[in-house]
Amino acid sequence: MKEKICVTRQYRFCAAHRLHTDALSDDVNRKVYDKCNNPNGHGHDYTVFVTVTGELDPQTGEVTDIHALDGLVNRKIVERFDHRHLNHDPAFQQLVTTGENLVKFIWDELVDDIPGGRLEKIGLIETRDNYFEYRQSVMPEHQSA
Ligand code: NI
Repeated sequence: MKEKICVTRQYRFCAAHRLHTDALSDDVNRKVYDKCNNPNGHGHDYTVFVTVTGELDPQTGEVTDIHALDGLVNRKIVERFDHRHLNHDPAFQQLVTTGENLVKFIWDELVDDIPGGRLEKIGLIETRDNYFEYRQSVMPEHQSA
């Protein structure tokens, strides 16, 4: 039996956002999102943790292709969001740019293209005190029909 090992790589991007939804009144937006609803927006230095689980290849001693993983995350996430306003991204026209929605979006963007092994978890640091995490609790191969 081959051993399974998790590898976590971290990436960074800086972006602006504003927590606001047109589904709620301006008053309720202010109550729900407080200062994060400031019309001028504000910025964060986001850190993304991408965790991949794979079987240890006895020859390379690795579980995934880190170089290819870097290429994937840089292309699909970092270059897309770095020094941008998240609210202007097409992905967030109907979604509030909360850490919860962002961490789930990053998962969805990466999950089908992991270059070896499978995506285990996405972590997202937004501020010193805010950390978001997404993982699928049931893996597809274990789902019953
Ligand atoms: Ni914020």
